[in-house]
Amino acid sequence: MSSLDMASKYQASIFLVFTATLLVAVNGVPQVPCYFIFGDSLMDNGNNNHLHTNSKVNFPPYGIDFPDGPTGRFSNGRNIADVIAQLLGFENFIQPFATARSDEIIKGVNYASGGAGIREESGQHMGERISLNNQIKNHRITILRLILLVGRGSLVATRKYLHKCMYTVGMGNNDYINNYFVPEYYKTSSLYSPEEYALLLVEQYSQQLQALYTYGARKFGVFAAGYSGCTPGMMAIYGMNSCVDSINNAIVLFNTLLNTTLNDLNNKYPDAKFIYIDASLQYPTDLNITDKPCCEVSSSIDGKGNCIPDHIPCSNRKNYVFWDAFHPTERVSIIGGTQAYKRLSPLYASEAISLLIDNDQSHVSDV
Ligand SMILES: *[C@@H]1O[C@H](CO)[C@@H](O)[C@H](O)[C@H]1NC(C)=O
Ligand SMILES: *[C@@H]1O[C@H](CO)[C@@H](O)[C@H](O)[C@H]1NC(C)=O
Repeated sequence: MSSLDMASKYQASIFLVFTATLLVAVNGVPQVPCYFIFGDSLMDNGNNNHLHTNSKVNFPPYGIDFPDGPTGRFSNGRNIADVIAQLLGFENFIQPFATARSDEIIKGVNYASGGAGIREESGQHMGERISLNNQIKNHRITILRLILLVGRGSLVATRKYLHKCMYTVGMGNNDYINNYFVPEYYKTSSLYSPEEYALLLVEQYSQQLQALYTYGARKFGVFAAGYSGCTPGMMAIYGMNSCVDSINNAIVLFNTLLNTTLNDLNNKYPDAKFIYIDASLQYPTDLNITDKPCCEVSSSIDGKGNCIPDHIPCSNRKNYVFWDAFHPTERVSIIGGTQAYKRLSPLYASEAISLLIDNDQSHVSDV
């Protein structure tokens, strides 16, 4: 297939916004005091490293372009959450829940886990993972720690702090490619039509987002599911050399419902804002859009689609869309993250205003 065919399968178009970096606060103060990340392998930065799962990648060549080497990020370098954190003005990356220290959780926590889904069972054939429900449970643990750290024992002060944080949630990918479209392990596709399944997923997702609201979240960026039918991994499984339309069509149903549901939540909770982010790409022309991943990927059952450990990857990584069979290169995460950051601007711009008019900042300062 031609590269243009593939690009056209990605629906929304984005454009590069290099100027966005100019908006980062110059004095080193991030635009929000804290950033919490919920998601799957597209955002995981090490939470799976200690789990028994094939969905972990803390070995070379992962991290070849990352200062700390292999960290568990499913990328050659930064992932999309890292890019957003940097654009928001955070000096350090948001730390994984698995290892974050007290002085770090004040800036937020990354709960994301490779293989995780909205549904509890999604991804279980690959091993352990932290489902969205369990990520939310982990967030409760963080809040208990924050009550002592930033609230000085006060729940009210802690909630006020939590209101100011950015929350991004990116789920749904594994509910399709590691559940609905793996009928040998999961029965969802025989129980539900794609329409019924999308409705079921989005209803559960909505409950989960509202649970975060009750824990104090007010600024939500919610990612659309990716069009996984265009990943080299799914094309190989289906024996196709073009995008797998049946997968993408099911995901479009999910994304459309998600968008509507976020509008409903905006109406239901006037003191919160839910922003829908579709990070799908219309790639810049210098990206060599090929359905081949940069690294040589494993076809064995263990870690299928992951880079083969210690193999030397392609050298022109900036020209590749896919790093391994399912995950984008850092270059693509920078493009998607820059676009997402711009879409999130109503959340941090309003924050800047509320900080200006908020006289009671005792709970933010000197922590
Ligand atoms: C999402 O919903 C809004 C409001 O109904 C609509 O204007 C917008 O086009 C929708 N976006 C997508 C990508 O479906
Ligand atoms: C794009 O990839 C093809 C196939 O690997 C290669 O022949 C070509 O030189 C690449 N182009 C660029 C600009 O990297």
